[in-house]
Amino acid sequence: MTTYKPFLEVKNLNVAFPTEDGLVKASSDISFTVARGETLAVVGESGSGKSVTSLAVMGLHNRKSAQISGQAFLNLDSGPVDVISADEEIVRKLRGKAMSMIFQDPMSALHPYYSIGNQLIEAWELYNEGSKEDGKKRAIEMLDLVGIPAASKRVDEYPHQFSGGMRQRVMIAMALINNPSLLIADEPTTALDVTVQSQILQLIRDMQKEFNMALILITHDLGVVAEVADRVNVMYAGKIVESGSADDIYYRPDHPYAIGLLNSIPRVDKLESQRLVAIPGQPPSLIHLPQGCSFRARCEFADRVPGNLCATTTPTLDQKGDGHFSRCHLPESELVKARVEIGGRK
Ligand SMILES: Nc1ncnc2c1ncn2[C@@H]1O[C@H](COP(=O)(O)OP(=O)(O)O)[C@@H](O)[C@H]1O
Ligand code: SF4
Ligand SMILES: [Mg+2]
Repeated sequence: MTTYKPFLEVKNLNVAFPTEDGLVKASSDISFTVARGETLAVVGESGSGKSVTSLAVMGLHNRKSAQISGQAFLNLDSGPVDVISADEEIVRKLRGKAMSMIFQDPMSALHPYYSIGNQLIEAWELYNEGSKEDGKKRAIEMLDLVGIPAASKRVDEYPHQFSGGMRQRVMIAMALINNPSLLIADEPTTALDVTVQSQILQLIRDMQKEFNMALILITHDLGVVAEVADRVNVMYAGKIVESGSADDIYYRPDHPYAIGLLNSIPRVDKLESQRLVAIPGQPPSLIHLPQGCSFRARCEFADRVPGNLCATTTPTLDQKGDGHFSRCHLPESELVKARVEIGGRK
């Protein structure tokens, strides 16, 4: 048996933003790991802290305006580096090399006035010595690898000459040009047509295999989760409320929020595009988080927990099984009933 060796280890990460209205607690008490070759999916409604958490790992928050605590270790060959406490200069050198990120909207990350080739060469030059020709050769190689037809011609074109799907391929080429060990893909297919979405996802998976990367895939699509993820973090109001293997989350969800999300799926084994449906109600303000459980206002099971605990005590992320954790006070006996009840409503 090989031992599990995480590449990224996030420990008790908190990110908060001071604003005129108060402190926005965007991610709280986040801990997780991901190893090379492993895919961690992160799901949760808009505003649950998925991007804020990822940007912290990438060292992309403004340290003057964001309050960040905790640790995010990258286990490099030369030893572990904590991205949160390391000098910004060191983190800048890790970005694009040890870790890379792709975003929902490639247009915002591409410069409209520079050719695709020049932007790829610039990314390559950050970590490689060589002539412009060497850089261009590598750029064409990468465009080819990510499936851009006639790469040697298109390398000289500009972002607006590419379709949305092709632009996302360019972004993937740019993110991977220096062979990173960790790739964070933040809703990489949300802005694309449905037919293109699965192609891009397949490309990301192929690239993960090719480069043996640790992959964090942030997605709204539960079909994608079941298909590609090894592990899943479910986020709500800035916290991980459930975490486990894809099978745990899919077949044995423990948290009423995760159970609710999965309830929207007509058939678990039907892997079409399956977006999260809205659970009635709104998430709480991240400035005025309620006492007790953040999900309580929307949770139909709170009154089954003895002693009004849901209103008074914040649940901790407790182990429910091997590698399966959930942040809920509901006793196991009630949980089993809840699963049956919610499941029966399909
Ligand atoms: N720079 C910032 N200042 C204040 N609030 C922010 C900032 N960045 C993000 N937030 C807030 O943090 C919360 C989490 O955002 P985000 O991580 O982007 O959510 P998502 O899960 O949709 O990716 C949101 O309420 C968002 O408005
Ligand atoms: S702790 Fe209580 S309110 Fe929160 S999810 Fe569990 S049962 Fe619902
Ligand atoms: Mg986001």
